[in-house]
This record gives sequence, C-alpha cells and structure tokens, in this order.
Amino acid sequence: MDQHEAPILDGLVEHRQLDRYGFTPPGHRQGRGADPRTLAALGRETFQADILATAGLDDRSSSRGLLKKAQSLMAEAVGAEQAFFSTCGSSLSVKAAILAVTRGTGEILIGRDAHKSVTAGLVLSGLQPRWIRPMWDSELHIAHPPSPDAVEAMWQRHPDAAAALITSPTPYGTCADLASIADICHKRGKPLIVDEAWGAHLPFHDDLPTWAMSANADICVVSVHKMGMGFEQGSVYHVQGGLVDPVRLSQCADVLATTSANVILYSAIDGWRRQMVEHGHEELARTLDLVETVRTRIEHIGRFHVLRDELVRKEASHDLDPLHVLIDVSQLGISGYQAADWLRAEQRIDVGLNDHSRIEATFSQADGDGTADRLLQALTALAQASATMPAPHPMFLPEPSDLEMETVMHPRDAFFGPVEVVPAEDAAGRIAAEQITPYPPGVPAILPGEKINGKVVEYLRSGVDAGMVLPDPADPSMKTIRVVQE
Ligand SMILES: Cc1ncc(COP(=O)(O)O)c(C=O)c1O
Repeated sequence: MDQHEAPILDGLVEHRQLDRYGFTPPGHRQGRGADPRTLAALGRETFQADILATAGLDDRSSSRGLLKKAQSLMAEAVGAEQAFFSTCGSSLSVKAAILAVTRGTGEILIGRDAHKSVTAGLVLSGLQPRWIRPMWDSELHIAHPPSPDAVEAMWQRHPDAAAALITSPTPYGTCADLASIADICHKRGKPLIVDEAWGAHLPFHDDLPTWAMSANADICVVSVHKMGMGFEQGSVYHVQGGLVDPVRLSQCADVLATTSANVILYSAIDGWRRQMVEHGHEELARTLDLVETVRTRIEHIGRFHVLRDELVRKEASHDLDPLHVLIDVSQLGISGYQAADWLRAEQRIDVGLNDHSRIEATFSQADGDGTADRLLQALTALAQASATMPAPHPMFLPEPSDLEMETVMHPRDAFFGPVEVVPAEDAAGRIAAEQITPYPPGVPAILPGEKINGKVVEYLRSGVDAGMVLPDPADPSMKTIRVVQE
C-alpha cells in the first residue's frame, strides 16, 4: 500500500474543494449556523471538517472505502493483521475486546491494575473477573503489570477463563513481559488482550518497549490521543492470529459505539499514521534524547528524584517507556497533589499523574527544548516555593495485601442490585456497589462486588483530605459509600 496516502484526510479536503452541501446532520452546516462566539472560540475550520462519515466524507454506501483503506494502511504500518478506528476512546475499544473474546459469559483473567474503563466492562457484561496479581511495589506504593508467573498461576486456577487481559504500559510507563505472557496464553489456546492505551507510539521506535502486536498479543487497544498526535477519544484496536474473530470484534464495537463517528477524529488518526511512517522514527529518536536530558536536568535542580531504575527490575516491571517522567517530590516536603496544584496555579503547567509523593510529566514527539525548558523552570520555581508551603496532609498507605479484596459477587449484580448508602466508617466487611477510583491514574481501588477492607477506606478518606480526586463514587468526599443491601 502507498503509506504516503491519507485517504480520510484527502476525502475531507476534497469534500471542501467540491463545495458539497448536506441536508443532513450535522445541522451546523460546516459552521454556517453556529454562533459567532462559538466560531471564534473553535475556529470555522473545525466546523468545516465536521462532516458525516457516510453521505458526507464518503457516499451513502461508503463505496469508496475511505475508512476501510485508512484502517488497512494503519494495520500495515504497525504490522497488525487488521486495525479498526474508534471515536469513543480506548474506553470503548477495551469493552469491545472483552465482549468479543468472552461472548459475554463466563470468566476472564484480568490484571487487577486495570483501568476503570476495563472494570466498567465487567459491570456491562456480567463476566466473572479472575484477578491476576500485579507486581506490587510496597515501598513506592505502585502497581506494575503482572509477571508471566502470576498469569500462569491464574490459568492453572481458572483454566476455563476465556482470555487474559493485561495493561501495558501502565500510566507510570511500566511494561509487562508481553511475549512471555502471550506464550503462556497461547499454550492453552487462549487469546491475550493488551490494554496499550498508553502505547500508540511504541511500534515506531526500537528503543521503546515492545509493542503488543510484536509480542504476539491477539488484540491490542491504543489511545491515539495519549502518546500519539490524535484528538481526544481517537482509539485504534488491532487484531491478529486465529484466536479472535475480527468480525465478532468489530460487531461488538458496533453494538457499543456511536452511529455518528467524528470524521475529525478519524482524519487525525489517518494523518498521524502517515506522519509516523514518514517521520516517526526520527521524531521519537529526538524525543528520547530530549527526555534523557530532561531527566538529568530535573535531578540537578536538587530535591527532585526522577524514577527509573526502581521501576525496572525483577520485583518491579519488565520494561519502562522513558517518555513517562515520574518525579518524586517528597524531599520538598510536599505531596504530588500540592505540587500539581501549585504548578497549575503559579506556572500554568499541568502535569498528568499525581499522587501522595509524585507527579508525572509525559513527553511526546510534540515536545522540544522550549517546552522542556518550561517544565524545568517551573520545577525550579516549585523547589523554591515549597519552603513556604504547608506540610502535606498525612495519608494512610495500605499494604498491597489490603488492596487485594475478595470479589464475592459478580460486579454487575453488585452494581445493578439493591443498594444502600452507609457511612464510610461502617463500610468495612460490606460488598461494594460502586467503583471508587483515584484519578489519575484511574485504577479502581474498590470495585462493585468486592468485600470492602477498612484499610482501603482509610487510604481513600485520607487521600481525599490530602488532595486525591475520586470522580466516580456517588459521594466523592468519601463520607458515605454505596454498598449492596443486606
Ligand atoms: C490504561 C488505560 N486504559 C484505558 C484508558 C481509556 O482510554 P480513553 O481515554 O482513550 O478512553 C485509559 C485512560 O486513561 C488508560 O489509562
């Protein structure tokens, strides 16, 4: 295929050049009807690019196959057998993958460090999760992806599970030994799904961790907006091998997806694939060099520690994506929450992941010396300002074993069944009826169907006091919790 082509982008440009006009949605008619203040904020071109995918970009039967061609180009570019675009984020793609491999019944093995979009898939599907133990670092209080041994142990206990699902890279950038895990699954004739939401860039540079398709995974899901150059919500799921039926997979996505896919999102994915084929290696090489310098320069400011060696070792993870720059701020005498809030308020810098002792800056090929300098200057100012900042609110950090709560009910039954709201201090021993997720990174601490451990409640309550954000429980202040009615 000609990887210099970008069929969706070209179709979009042609639509504009031919001055097509649709008496169809979107009703704004390429911005003609939009309020001038909206146009001023979003730009007329945004509206011009917002056209229907069928009977707009392509004709009413999609006879030109623009989307299909763009997906085939993507599959070829990254070495997958098939690729499918989604405009509903990896949040939808992982659910489609789960439904496709399980057919909606039975058990699935899942690393317990899964993102809330994966665990929400359990509520939706009614599946029985069999949790694979992550590699817990009880000193750093970080969960890394499960080891191959942990996956093997779970297959021995639950040989009838339909598939295994692993998150790699994690939001910390730590990666699983996917090739060994795929091998373990395949020896049993079972597919491996990899939630690689953070790994869209991995196929395009050898110095980055192995990407899931090269490690023989059967399905892998990426968010193009996280580490690639796509718009928010742009996701691609890839499939290969004979264990997953691609038709079932795309039909599972179809039952969940919007019928009004956003062509702007598709176009950005298409354009990004061409960019990566043409320039990805050199752009990522430059970014990898930049990040090495940034890591050293942050250490030189003093009292910041950039984590690396402690994240990649036998007891931690198999590999690390160095573009995740995880910075320990505890020597400044402040928490990661305080650091993140101060950087936003005083330096107009937002960081991604933040927790009791760390902040994370993720770098992409869009970054350069200018943005790196901005981060360095902001961190230098933070180091100075920290002297006058209040001491962080003390947080109770549980042991890994406290976090491994027993799933005593199907997540779906717990979520949809009769619930009652109890004071948090009375919740220990009750079955959770809601998902409670510190965000970021988005890994639920409590899931529907789990028997609540009081130490986890203490962790979350002290976390909220310290600045932790919990977007999903009914009571984000954690004074009360929804539990299954007794
Ligand atoms: C590991 C992981 N999986 C899935 C998702 C969901 O991705 P999206 O935001 O594209 O829906 C996220 C989002 O942060 C994530 O971190």
